[in-house]
Amino acid sequence: METSSLLLCKGLLLTAFLLTCWNAPTTAELTIELVPPMVAEGGNSVLFVHKMPLNVQAFYWYKQKDATKSYEVARYLTPNNTTSKMPQHSGRKTVFYSGSLLIRNVTQADSGFYTLLTFNTEMQSELTHIHLEVYKPVAQPTLQADKTTVTEDGSVTLTCLPENSGLSIRWLFNRQSLYFNSRMTLSQKNSQLVIDPVRMEDAGEYQCEVSNGYSSKMSSPVQMSVTSE
Ligand SMILES: *[C@@H]1O[C@H](CO)[C@@H](O)[C@H](O)[C@H]1NC(C)=O
Ligand SMILES: *[C@@H]1O[C@H](CO)[C@@H](O)[C@H](O)[C@H]1NC(C)=O
Ligand SMILES: *[C@@H]1O[C@H](CO)[C@@H](O)[C@H](O)[C@H]1NC(C)=O
Repeated sequence: METSSLLLCKGLLLTAFLLTCWNAPTTAELTIELVPPMVAEGGNSVLFVHKMPLNVQAFYWYKQKDATKSYEVARYLTPNNTTSKMPQHSGRKTVFYSGSLLIRNVTQADSGFYTLLTFNTEMQSELTHIHLEVYKPVAQPTLQADKTTVTEDGSVTLTCLPENSGLSIRWLFNRQSLYFNSRMTLSQKNSQLVIDPVRMEDAGEYQCEVSNGYSSKMSSPVQMSVTSE
């Protein structure tokens, strides 16, 4: 895939701005990465800076898409390693020498754009943005069984009730992933498990776990016993 700078170079070549073109790809570009890529409320997020210029003199962090002082989080002077706390600073935020910004115990209010402004020795500045999205952790699902004592050869229906839709569901038996066999049927987007006919070996503890990719919760266990006639 061609990058936009490469396309720009091709265009520039035609108009003979060769020098500009040659210089562009050699510049190590500062990038910001979210670590971890997804964070739920209560977690920690690092806005990790890659390729901070070696000649950086100062960098400022803003909680917004533009560099407005009222949205400034902190400024860091690299020659003497000093941090100045700005209006948007809180005890949960820490700026590191590397440029990275750590936000602890994130809330929905921390969602949004963050901007890093860097200055080098020639006092040239560069703006880089990153968008942080704080997700709500999933709520604990409820597991219901139509009966908890089943007669051998009878049937049982277990239903997992998540608080939200669109979550993936996993089934557990005695705290391990459930091993499905031909007597088991899953339906309603994996939220319903029917065992028919029930065997003695099906007795035990059932749970379901819901997940949205970055957070997961398990239901309380349902104990099922099987009796022979
Ligand atoms: C840090 O360095 C800057 C610029 O070199 C200077 O203006 C500032 O007073 C210094 N701060 C401290 C605490 O030494
Ligand atoms: C600033 O911190 C860096 C990394 O911890 C260290 O290498 C450097 O010597 C420090 N500079 C000053 C002036 O304290
Ligand atoms: C995290 O923030 C919440 C409020 O948003 C607070 O109730 C909780 O005590 C904080 N946890 C820690 C470990 O600081």
